[in-house]
Amino acid sequence: MPRVAVIPGDGIGLEVIREAVRVIEAVETRFAPGLELVHWDLGADRYLREGVTITDEEFNSLATEHDAILLGALGDPRVPGNQHARDILLGLRFRLDLYVNYRPSVLLDPAMSPLRDPGPIRLDIFRENTEGVYVDLGGTFKEGTVDEVAIQEDLNTWKGVERICRAAFEHADRQGRARVTLVDKANAMPAAGRLWRRAFAHVAADFPAMDTDAMYVDAMAMDLVRRPGRYEVVVTGNLFGDILSDLAAELVGGLGTAASANIHPGRHALFEPVHGSAPDIAGEGKANPLGAISCVALLLDHLGFPEPAALIETIVREAVEKGVRTPDMGGTGTTEEVGHWVAKRVLEHDA
Ligand code: NAD
Ligand code: IPM
Ligand code: MN
Repeated sequence: MPRVAVIPGDGIGLEVIREAVRVIEAVETRFAPGLELVHWDLGADRYLREGVTITDEEFNSLATEHDAILLGALGDPRVPGNQHARDILLGLRFRLDLYVNYRPSVLLDPAMSPLRDPGPIRLDIFRENTEGVYVDLGGTFKEGTVDEVAIQEDLNTWKGVERICRAAFEHADRQGRARVTLVDKANAMPAAGRLWRRAFAHVAADFPAMDTDAMYVDAMAMDLVRRPGRYEVVVTGNLFGDILSDLAAELVGGLGTAASANIHPGRHALFEPVHGSAPDIAGEGKANPLGAISCVALLLDHLGFPEPAALIETIVREAVEKGVRTPDMGGTGTTEEVGHWVAKRVLEHDA
C-alpha cells in the first residue's frame, strides 16, 4: 500500500491541498489504488507554536516510511526570512537529493494565454534542484555597516550538472520530443558556463538523434514570450529554472495551474505546485487548485497508476474549457467549487 505524506504547509497551500486530497479520495473510490495518506503538520504554525521547523526523525520518516510526498507551499509573513520554508522545502530537496525539478507547461486553451497568438505550447523545464546559488555557500562580513560584504556562491558540480542533463535527454527521448535546449549565462558566468556546456555536450553525444541548442537566459526569457512553441525540453540551473518556470506557467494559463515534481529517480519524489503560499489571497477561497490537482496526476503516474493520472489531466483540461475557473483565470469559482467539480468528474467520467 503506497504511503503518501501530505504537507499542506502555509497560506493557500492548505486550501489547494484540501482539494487535491478530495481528488485523491475520488480516485480511491473509483480506482482503488490503495493509497494511504499521512497528514503532516509542518509549516509556519508549527514553527511559531513549537519553535521547530522539521526534526531529523521527521526527515528520516519522510525518507524511509513514505513512497511520495505531496506538498502545498511554504512561506508566511509572520516568519521573517522564512527560515522554516528553507529548512522544510529546501531541506527536503537537498537532503533527499531531489535533483530533478520537473516543471511542465502545456497550453490547455489559447484563450488562457496572455499572448495574442500563442500557438501550441508544450514546454518541459528540467531545473537542477540541489546546487547553484541555492546551496547558501558564502557569508556576510561587516553586516549592517557601509562596508558590508555579502557573498552568495554559485555551486556547480560535474556530477550534478551531468545528471540533470541526462534526466532531460532521457525524458525527451521517452516522450518523443525533438529538441533539448540548454539555458545558462555562459557569457557572464564563464566557469559555470564551461562546465554546463561540456556536460550537456557529453550527454547529448548519447542521443545523436536529438536536436540541441543553447540559449542565454536573458534571450530565453524574451524568446519564451516571442515564440514559446519553439521550445520542447529545457535544462537549466536552479535559479534560472525557478524564474523561467514562473514565466512559462504564466504563458499557459497562470501560476495557479502549474504542477511540479522534485525527484531523485528510483528513490524519492515530492510533488508540489509551482506557486507559493500567496499571502495576498490566502483564506479568501480564491486560490486556483488546478496546480495542486495536476500534482496528483504526476504523483499517481509516478506511483504506477497511469489511468487515473491521465483522467485527472483530461478533467483539468475540461474544467478550463467549460469555464470552471477561479478568478485568476477569469472565472468566478471558489477553490472548493473547482475541487469539488474535478472530484465529481473523476467519479462520473466515462474514460
Ligand atoms: P506566490 O506564488 O505565492 O504568489 C505570486 C502571485 O501569484 C500572487 O499574486 C498570488 O496571489 C498569485 N498566485 C499564486 N498561486 C496562486 C493560485 N494557486 N491561485 C491564484 N493565484 C495565485 O509567490 P510570492 O508572493 O513571491 O511568495 C509568497 C510566499 O510563498 C513566499 O514566502 C515565498 O517564499 C513562498 N513560495 C513558496 C513556494 C513553495 O513552497 N514551493 C513557491 C514559491 C513561493
Ligand atoms: C519554488 C520556490 C522556491 C524556490 C522558494 C520558496 C525557495 O520559489 O519552488 O519555485 O526558489 O525554489
Ligand atoms: Mn519559484
